[in-house]
Amino acid sequence: MMNARDLKPVIQVENFSKSFGSVKAVDNISFQVIPGECFGLLGPNGAGKSTTIKMLITLLPPDAGTAIVNGFSITSQGAHVRESIGYVPQSLSVDGVLTGYENLMFFGKLYGWSEKQLKDRVPLVLELMDLKEAAHRQVAHYSGGMVRRLEIGQAILHQPAVVFLDEPTVGLDPVARHALWKHIQELRRHHLVTLFLTTHYMDEAQELCSHIAIMNHGKIVVNGTLQELRKIAKLPKASMNDLFVRFVGPIDSEKGDLNNVSKIRRIARRLS
Ligand SMILES: Nc1ncnc2c1ncn2[C@@H]1O[C@H](COP(=O)(O)OP(=O)(O)O)[C@@H](O)[C@H]1O
Ligand SMILES: [Mg+2]
Repeated sequence: MMNARDLKPVIQVENFSKSFGSVKAVDNISFQVIPGECFGLLGPNGAGKSTTIKMLITLLPPDAGTAIVNGFSITSQGAHVRESIGYVPQSLSVDGVLTGYENLMFFGKLYGWSEKQLKDRVPLVLELMDLKEAAHRQVAHYSGGMVRRLEIGQAILHQPAVVFLDEPTVGLDPVARHALWKHIQELRRHHLVTLFLTTHYMDEAQELCSHIAIMNHGKIVVNGTLQELRKIAKLPKASMNDLFVRFVGPIDSEKGDLNNVSKIRRIARRLS
């Protein structure tokens, strides 16, 4: 039987680096993601997770290194990379004044889809994200979980090969978080999308991710499946939380610069 690891990677990162002034946000990282995986990039606030995603989706150029996404170079084939991916940003990306349906129609038109194509595709996506009932309500009246589902719907509208989710459940209450996990799992299992997500919730990574890389101070500290991480740590029964403590140190969820803390509060406010 063919091992999943023998598949051609859908994301291949080699020696990525990015600095902001004197801050090395991403410091010479390399890794790959196999099609169909849910790859989780874990790390405390400020580790470099969002910067890594922004380079992979061509929002930021790397200072050094290369990456291939879905067979395309992020530096010389940016347009093809953008067609191959969906992105759910850490900050919110839908318009509260419009309805869910209107948001998706608007976004689809930005992608150059015709009205007719969208009239077929948008209802399917709304159904998939459990938003059929709420489709014609203003997004301003959606719950936080519904807003996040709409954003995921927006990210998968054009049927991308890879979807990037940057801390998708920040600001959601535990019930809404678990509900969102179900939708994320469904995307992977039934729609064969490769998922790349960042989180600082260890239970989330353990529940959703088939492959995990832990990042700290711009570097990847360890990279593998949960079983592989347990083996490396010599902790055969460890939870993701135990492993994180072992590889990075105690988790302090209040840590991170003021900027980060206020950003999370702002998201939480808008989602509540
Ligand atoms: N546009 C930017 N300008 C200056 N510093 C930045 C910028 N974006 C990120 N940083 C810094 O780079 C580091 C990594 O940030 P980020 O990638 O957002 O981390 P994470 O997503 O893991 O919380 C942090 O020290 C952050 O303050
Ligand atoms: Mg981030």
